[in-house]
Amino acid sequence: MEGYDYNELLSVGKVSADALEFSKKVIKPGASLLDAVNRIESFIKDRGCEFSFPTNLSVNEQAAHYTPLFDDKSVFSENSVVKVDLGARRGFYLTDCAITIDLSGEHSKLCEAAVEALDAAISIVKSGVEVCMIGAAIEEVGRKFGLKTIRNLGGHGIEKDELHADVFIPNYNNGDRTKLDEGQVVAIEPFFTEGSAGMVEDGDIVEIFQRHGDSRPRSNISRELLEKIESRYITYPFAARWLYADKDWENEFKVKRALADLVSSEAVESFPVLIEKSNGLVAQAEKELIVERDSCRIVT
Ligand code: CO
Repeated sequence: MEGYDYNELLSVGKVSADALEFSKKVIKPGASLLDAVNRIESFIKDRGCEFSFPTNLSVNEQAAHYTPLFDDKSVFSENSVVKVDLGARRGFYLTDCAITIDLSGEHSKLCEAAVEALDAAISIVKSGVEVCMIGAAIEEVGRKFGLKTIRNLGGHGIEKDELHADVFIPNYNNGDRTKLDEGQVVAIEPFFTEGSAGMVEDGDIVEIFQRHGDSRPRSNISRELLEKIESRYITYPFAARWLYADKDWENEFKVKRALADLVSSEAVESFPVLIEKSNGLVAQAEKELIVERDSCRIVT
């Protein structure tokens, strides 16, 4: 990519990879989700980075997009299967990566399958590889473990300032013969489930939002909130809890109402928690890569 500093991307990627390692220390049975997310996000901030998106801590049948609520009281249980999906950002250099932490140790097959599928996919990534072949490699590992891949989630291109750029990298052979190019930055993220559906659907919880389009709401309070969102998070996804934590606002309720108004007026997009349709346990592994001529370089 022109004018793109790959070394800067690699340095941000290191922060994300270290944050995933750090998350293993704070995600334990009985630990609070809110405390864990605060510690992981502080770890990233302390290293001079912002966020590509709020840190996701999705548990069990939640595949993605759960980030703790402002007043989240939940704790990890002995049996939680936790997907930590995070991304440090510096300027417009975005990273995205994930691991699954199996607190009981009883779902090692599910978690190993995700890691093995990611490795299998990485081993074939090079300039000219067709995305359906990456999907086929992932699906093959799932078959070996007797697990379904999640078909409506997948990897993606990452560009300057754009977390989900053009290319979609399927988790199964979908017949898409789009080729990856040298220098392209992509994230590959196999998801497997023990469930029978192999699909995710929107759940009821919504804690992740993003400025969208250019419409402006009528009410003053909503407009004031929108200005705050634009100045702080630009067009990057943000967590509702980041806003509620703001002392400038009188109360959480007021922000909640303004945020709901921004969503209904389509000034802000919302990202509900994604749940496996048959409520099966889900594991994920994700890394960001730079496609090279004969292989790839791991960013995270
Ligand atoms: Co991703």
